[in-house]
Amino acid sequence: MSYYDQDTIEEVRRANDIVDVIKEYVPLKKSGSNYFGLCPFHGEKTPSFSVSPSRQMYHCFGCGASGTVYQFMENYLHMSFPEAVEALADRAGITLKKQELTSEQKRKNDRRKTLLAIQKDAAVYFYSLLHSPRGEKCLEYFRNRGLSDETMTKFGLGYSDSYSNDLYEYLKKKGYSDDILRDSGLVTFSEQYGMQDKFWDRAMFPVMDQYSKVIAFGGRLMGDGKPKYLNSPETEIFHKSYNLYGLNLARRTRRNYFILCEGYMDVIALHQAGFDCAVASLGTSLTPGQVDIIARITKNVYLSYDSDGAGVNAILRAIPMFKAKGITMRVIHMDPYKDPDEFIKALGADEYQKRIDEAENFFIFEIRQLQKQYDMSDPAERTRFETETARKLIEFHIELERDNYTDTVCREFNIPVDAMRSLVRRLAAEEMNRPIRINTRPAENSDAPVARKDDPDEMRLLSWISDRPDLFQTMADYLKPEDFDEGILRDIAAQMYGQIEKNGIVNPAVIIDSFDEVEDQNRASWIFHENVRSLQETPKEDKGKAFIMTLSRVVRKAYDRRIGTLDATDTKRFELIREEKESLDKIAKLRIADA
Ligand code: UTP
Ligand code: MN
Repeated sequence: MSYYDQDTIEEVRRANDIVDVIKEYVPLKKSGSNYFGLCPFHGEKTPSFSVSPSRQMYHCFGCGASGTVYQFMENYLHMSFPEAVEALADRAGITLKKQELTSEQKRKNDRRKTLLAIQKDAAVYFYSLLHSPRGEKCLEYFRNRGLSDETMTKFGLGYSDSYSNDLYEYLKKKGYSDDILRDSGLVTFSEQYGMQDKFWDRAMFPVMDQYSKVIAFGGRLMGDGKPKYLNSPETEIFHKSYNLYGLNLARRTRRNYFILCEGYMDVIALHQAGFDCAVASLGTSLTPGQVDIIARITKNVYLSYDSDGAGVNAILRAIPMFKAKGITMRVIHMDPYKDPDEFIKALGADEYQKRIDEAENFFIFEIRQLQKQYDMSDPAERTRFETETARKLIEFHIELERDNYTDTVCREFNIPVDAMRSLVRRLAAEEMNRPIRINTRPAENSDAPVARKDDPDEMRLLSWISDRPDLFQTMADYLKPEDFDEGILRDIAAQMYGQIEKNGIVNPAVIIDSFDEVEDQNRASWIFHENVRSLQETPKEDKGKAFIMTLSRVVRKAYDRRIGTLDATDTKRFELIREEKESLDKIAKLRIADA
């Protein structure tokens, strides 16, 4: 954390028991060792929001929201991290010594503040132009598109007029320097014309961050022409791939899902129609950062992308990213309309709600798209389609889930279910018995948009230990922190080993807050929670066995990684292979007592 050091953060946390803090906002009842209540982050009638005094964390089994007392303040009270530290320190009567910022940090902070102030001033300027005589044409445009005055105000819509530098003059008068204005993305400089506004004669959409601070703009031509939308460039305060349009409003929704769509107008139309959970990725393909943000708030996403080929492809790309985060997706069909905005304008909110209710499960959607590549009247092609479907089915690792999907797919696509089940079983068995691959490292610098996935076995193992420190020694007999995959998992492992060796227990909250980036905090928090949950759902008698199998997979991978770096003739290699076999044999013989 840039503002306060780890010791301060920890001191303030210790002084604010998470149960006491959350109780001030959410009624909680004790049940077993945890407290339960109605989740404040999504609408529900039976309590699935749990707060753990021993872990000092909250977790909702309904929507997946989770975190420490700090994340509670950030998400529930919409504070920034430093604000949360300050509020909690205040609550506990601790006087914070403001950390001395280095002059570099100070300069950066000041720049950020100024850049935000510029965006805000510009938004006010565009807004007042829209409501002045010069903005009449634009106001008419918004009204023709069905927007109410209330909606326009809610989204801060505005107008940039056709003078080439009136915004620049306005901001200049407010005292901003040319240098900073150039970095704001609102003004461009050329030798020929000097300083000029970026946006001319466009309908303006301010882009806000999750705290409703304006960080950028999109501007739409009111007629035909190119580009239809012009957007602010990336700046120090605007990182497109970590932002979602509408998030500032959608994060407060009472619905337990998000609707993900493509455009500015889609979000606005959906909100106006009462779907206050709509966000947009703004024409770019969805990024892992955006998926992380969504995963932190909800575990249910309805995809409402455009009904054209590009929209379908965007959905197919989004599916594995959400799947990796344990998010359930459904696809909303809007035919014969192009996008949610047009749909709602034509048929209204009730019809859209019907489409939500009828939305298609992502897997069926995927298989339907797959089917289009085959000629189903040809037996050979049909068989290939069925085999390909079976391969996709074995990606469901939970047997019950896999069976359910098998049944549904067979029904939907007229496939004999018994034959499909046995094909799936055979392919799954083949998959299990595949020989060990020597080099398990993923290709370096592949520039796929998907972030390298955290290894699910390593994640499970670490969260397991956080719940059952008594198993730590067993794991530590076979694995060192360096044996975990490089990156966040290795960092977490190293901290856990340190904590257990020092205190005998794991403190997930400390580990989560040790990461500077919000994205990493989310991933860490997710790792601890989702997996503890899957563990709790494992039948008691299977837990020991599952632990042993997970441990042996992680150990195997760790060895394979090391072996993979050695030359085929290196004698060290044979030693490692022998050692690996010994370890795996030993692990197979372990017996784990139930908790
Ligand atoms: P669409 O082309 O689907 O437009 O772009 P739209 O949202 O339906 O726009 P309207 O209804 O005609 O006003 C989807 C999104 O892609 C981005 C914008 O964020 C837009 O909302 N986009 C599109 C651009 O950034 N630039 C463009 O030129 C076009
Ligand atoms: Mn549209």
